[in-house]
Amino acid sequence: MTASSVWTRKDLLSLYDLSAEEILCILDTAEEFKKVSQRNIKKVPALRGKTVVNLFVEPSTRTRISFELAEQRLSADIINVSADASSLRKGETLLDTVKNIEALQVDLVVMRHSAPGAPNYLANQLSCGIVNAGDGAHSHPTQALLDLFTIREKKGTLKGLNVTILGDILHSRVARSNMWGLLKLGANVTFAGPSTLVPREFEQAGVRVCHNIREALEGADVVNLLRIQHERQKKGFFPSTGEYAKVFGLNADTFKYLKKDALIMHPGPINRDVELSSALADCPQSVILEQVTNGLAVRMAVLFLVAGCLKNGR
Ligand code: CP
Repeated sequence: MTASSVWTRKDLLSLYDLSAEEILCILDTAEEFKKVSQRNIKKVPALRGKTVVNLFVEPSTRTRISFELAEQRLSADIINVSADASSLRKGETLLDTVKNIEALQVDLVVMRHSAPGAPNYLANQLSCGIVNAGDGAHSHPTQALLDLFTIREKKGTLKGLNVTILGDILHSRVARSNMWGLLKLGANVTFAGPSTLVPREFEQAGVRVCHNIREALEGADVVNLLRIQHERQKKGFFPSTGEYAKVFGLNADTFKYLKKDALIMHPGPINRDVELSSALADCPQSVILEQVTNGLAVRMAVLFLVAGCLKNGR
C-alpha cells in the first residue's frame, strides 16, 4: 500500500485522531527521509514552491529548529513568526493572525500555542494545512512520533514492549501523545510519578498508573522521563525538587530496577539531577540525542505527507 493511499489529511493535530496504519505510514516515510539526511547532499525538492509559516507563540528550542531544518531540507520557502514580534502582542486574535497569513497563499502553518485545542480550532476554519507543534498540555504529536520512531529503530517493534513514562504526567502533552501512539501500536504503557501528578483517571484510557518507582521501572524496556513543568503548575504538587529527585528521579539507585537493555529517553529540555541524573542522561543506554536526530526525519515525513493532501492551487 502506498503512503498516498493511507495518508489523506491536510493537518496533523493529535495522535488520538490517527489509526495505527496512519502512524506506521509516518514512521515508514520518516525512515526514507532519515536516509536523505545521511547523504552528501541532504536536500530534496519535495516542498519546492510551497510556503511554510512557523508560528511559535510558546518557547521552543528543539521543535522549532527541527521543523525549520526539515522545511529547508524539503526545499520549502519559510517564514518564522514569534509572538513577541507579531501583532498578537497588540491584541489581534490568533484566528485573524492566521487568516492574514493564509491570505498570502501560505500552504502550511506549523504552530505551537499554550492553549489546548488552538491548532484544531484553526484547522477547522482554514484551508491551509496545520501542523501541531505542541498545544498546552494537550498534544505534541511530532514529539511522540519521534519517540515511537526511536523505540522501533532500537527494539525492532513497539508491540508488547513495556514503556514507562515517569514524571509530571498531569501537565504533559508528550505523555498524552505518547500514550495514544504507544497503545495504538501495541505497547504496554505505565504512567508513573507522585499521585498528585499522575491521576488514576488515565487508567480509563488503558494505561497502568503507578506511584511506586520500583514497580514502575521493574520490567520496563523503555523509560521516558518528563521534567516538572513549573510553568504550568499553579500549586505545589510535591514538597521540594530535592525530595522529588530522591523519590522519583532516575539515578544510580533506581536504574538497577530497569531491564539491562532498557532505553533511557527524554523529550528535553532536561532538568539534570532532578528527573534524571546527569550521568544517566549521558550514559550509553541514553538515546536522548538520537531522539533529536530522528525528530528531523519525522518532521520531514509529516510535512511531506500533509503537503501532499492540500487542495489543488496550494
Ligand atoms: N521536546 C520539546 O518539545 O522541546 P522544545 O520545547 O525545546 O521544542
